[in-house]
Amino acid sequence: MSKILVTGGLGFIGSHAVVELVNAGYEPVIVDDLSNSQLAILDQITKIIGYKPAFHQLDLSVEADVNSLALAEPDITGVIHFAAFKAVGESVGHPLKYYRNNFYSLINLLNAYYAKPVNLVFSSSCTVYGQPDVLPVTEDAPVKPAQSPYGNTKQVAEEILKDMIFSGGSRYKVVSLRYFNPVGAHHSALIGELPIGVPQNLVPFITQSAIGKRGNITVHGDDYNTPDGSCIRDYIHVVDLAKAHVAALRLMEKESFTGYDMFNLGTGTGSSVLEVIHAFERSTGVKLNYQIGPRRPGDVEQVWGDVTKSTQKLGWKAELGIDEMMSSAWEWEKYIETNPF
Ligand code: WQD
Repeated sequence: MSKILVTGGLGFIGSHAVVELVNAGYEPVIVDDLSNSQLAILDQITKIIGYKPAFHQLDLSVEADVNSLALAEPDITGVIHFAAFKAVGESVGHPLKYYRNNFYSLINLLNAYYAKPVNLVFSSSCTVYGQPDVLPVTEDAPVKPAQSPYGNTKQVAEEILKDMIFSGGSRYKVVSLRYFNPVGAHHSALIGELPIGVPQNLVPFITQSAIGKRGNITVHGDDYNTPDGSCIRDYIHVVDLAKAHVAALRLMEKESFTGYDMFNLGTGTGSSVLEVIHAFERSTGVKLNYQIGPRRPGDVEQVWGDVTKSTQKLGWKAELGIDEMMSSAWEWEKYIETNPF
């Protein structure tokens, strides 16, 4: 069975990817430093897949530890690299923390398996597009100057990977996946998003407000040039997103695939903040309390993805809609309320 290293495998997207890897017949090996996840998620994954996957707790930014990992796990055929710090706001205040962790981890990992024929899936982000000039945004749209150190780490990481592939020195194949806004949870409600502290992202704030852990939702601005004035994003169900990582591995396993490619992972449909709020109320029957507040610095007005290339070349398309995203997120919030980790 093909062993796939999943760095950040106990995180929100990583844990869902571990489940989809097993569903697709792969053997995941989880690596996580638990800086933004909890060991309890390993038990939750075990409940879903029926066995406890291999797990290594280590900090990928420490070269010696990554080299030890490669000795312990020499026969991996692929890597899905999620592990990175990802809080946009925090990165503005602590740039060196972000550059050190996100770049040291990536480079240590690349060096550790450099001589092996490994298929690497890299977790990138639509944040590299900034505010696109044309919507929906395609993969060949210009990468805009990063709005945050976090966004810069994603842009530079993509360049590092392309430079490595085109230097011809390694046996890697690489696919970068540019996520739009991952939300929702596994249908079992056993895994989902576990924000630390007050959620910065919209959907976890909505579910925590709905369950009474937070006050009213503040809509960050309703004076944008959009139909209802609130910002538009391309929200994608985390399970659909996870399945795209399996499709990326399958693509690289084809003889015809050489080098590097990159794909948008969205639904191709934009939803405004107010539409998301109303979708949550519609799909859960729970009334939300919200008020309009000032714009949030750094927000782009509207962005959603063109997913033609992902559908045609990756052979993948999102299947779950905004109502399933909201209802699954709500089921997860209720689960952790009664089963706190
Ligand atoms: C969505 C919309 C907010 C909270 C971020 C990262 C991006 C990616 C996904 C990693 C915006 C509005 C939010 C609230 C609100 N992460 N909002 N009230 O900023 O699009 O993307 O997460 O790759 O890189 O930047 O997601 O959920 O924070 O915001 O009105 O309480 O919801 O202003 O318009 P964002 P988000």
